[in-house]
Amino acid sequence: MKNVVLKLHNIKKIYKVKDENILALDNINIDFELGKFYLIIGHSGSGKSTLLHLLGLIDNADSGEIIFNDNNISNLNSKELAKLRNEKIGYIFQEFYLDKYLKAYENIMVPMLINKNFSNKKEIFKRSLLLLDKVGLEKRKNHFPKQLSGGEQQRVCIARALANYPDIILADEPTGNLDINNEKYIFNLLKELASENKCVIMVSHSSDAKNYADVILEMDNGRLKRI
Ligand SMILES: Nc1ncnc2c1ncn2[C@@H]1O[C@H](COP(=O)(O)OP(=O)(O)OP(=O)(O)O)[C@@H](O)[C@H]1O
Ligand SMILES: [Mg+2]
Repeated sequence: MKNVVLKLHNIKKIYKVKDENILALDNINIDFELGKFYLIIGHSGSGKSTLLHLLGLIDNADSGEIIFNDNNISNLNSKELAKLRNEKIGYIFQEFYLDKYLKAYENIMVPMLINKNFSNKKEIFKRSLLLLDKVGLEKRKNHFPKQLSGGEQQRVCIARALANYPDIILADEPTGNLDINNEKYIFNLLKELASENKCVIMVSHSSDAKNYADVILEMDNGRLKRI
């Protein structure tokens, strides 16, 4: 049985810069299911991050529809969207976006502090340490982002994305700064999450990524095809 969690229908995204219109997403139609690990490949500038931004509900399409768990997201107000983002989506950003004024463990606590399903601060603290341990950074909990290497920051970002037990995990080049062993570990972790009935959507240029994914999609000049 198909277990569709996110549905894109005729999605178009155009960036306007001065007189130029850039068609970043050109009529995307696809269903994403729970329990599957999707890999999106494609050359630089083909629209992969743009697609992830839309799936993460942090940017809007110019036309088309995004259906999340049978709800058209255009019917949701900004408060409802923020709740959905926080509780259901874990986003591993290409640029990390860690809060530079917060220590590693505090960065991971943030999504849980906003989430009304967590009320106990001790529990939140304990979970942030557990997640740091999961990405091999238990000894770096008190470091601020600038005191961490690029790969360590990336792993804090991964831990933060998992904090609220999201149904959907969006990972934009999650291993771009990692060595081969850490990369393997993260790919396996994402695969395991998909097997626990999450929907994992990963953009990666790594040649090894194909060995982990259930579905491979290629973005080519704003068009998405299954390969
Ligand atoms: N905020 C923006 N304003 C204008 N143009 C943008 C913006 N963001 C992206 N673009 C353009 O849209 C296209 C798609 O960009 P996108 O970031 O989605 O590519 P990508 O596939 O993620 O590339 P990469 O592999 O380098 O990360 C590119 O041509 C890019 O220059
Ligand atoms: Mg990108």
